[in-house]
Amino acid sequence: MDTDQHNIDLKKLPKHIAIIMDGNGRWAKSRNQVRVFGHKNGVNSVREVTEACAELGVQYLTLYAFSTENWDRPKFEVNTLMKLLVDTLKKEINTLNKNDISLQAIGDLSKLPEKTRKALLEGIEATKTNSRMKLILALNYSSKWEIAECIKKIAIQYADGVLDLQDINDKCICENLETKGIPDPELMIRTSGEQRISNFLLYQLAYAELYFTETMWPDFNKAALYKAIENFQERERRFGKTSEQLKNA
Ligand code: FPP
Repeated sequence: MDTDQHNIDLKKLPKHIAIIMDGNGRWAKSRNQVRVFGHKNGVNSVREVTEACAELGVQYLTLYAFSTENWDRPKFEVNTLMKLLVDTLKKEINTLNKNDISLQAIGDLSKLPEKTRKALLEGIEATKTNSRMKLILALNYSSKWEIAECIKKIAIQYADGVLDLQDINDKCICENLETKGIPDPELMIRTSGEQRISNFLLYQLAYAELYFTETMWPDFNKAALYKAIENFQERERRFGKTSEQLKNA
């Protein structure tokens, strides 16, 4: 099958796609392999989906790579994931540069192993002037953590007298979230059949279209991404308005 064939209307592309990459462990288990085999194969999907988004013209792609809860997984799995991140980041910097993609990260990076943090910061620095697409990795990220941090930052500004009570609004909250400067995702994809948001971008997904697929992350490829975007484009996004109001606008 020619995976480059799609019926996507490029004028109505989601500007920002966020993905919960789920199902690596089950994918590996169904092949009688250890869980980390799934993560290793998941990297190919990361590469393919990143490339497809950039080719289409999606401007922001956020991938949930490691949640604050993932530290509770077996030590071997956590260590392998951290190493995989280092190896992948190092290996892919040139490709990111060639494709004019800049890397960014959201989450509490201070708690990452030093090697992972270093590779990440080097990747961010080496790609910072690229402008075709932003690839945002959510690492040691959870939305509840992010919102608590946001409240702390706002409380400090209020206590310091640099912020009035009436200025605490959506704009102010967005400016104090990890995703400052990044438009909210319009499409959120979760693979593997689970239908949950799992502490991912809770504030930012307020109006996102949610797309759930049974496909396990290591099997998620360009064709699967095209299908998700085509599905997104069939939906009517009302933002609280009526269908009639939208048609008459
Ligand atoms: C969820 O599957 C996947 C993860 C927690 C990690 C995702 C990481 C990668 C794909 C590799 C590295 C990423 C980058 C950006 C280089 P799961 O383990 O929860 O699967 P399960 O639900 O079947 O157990």
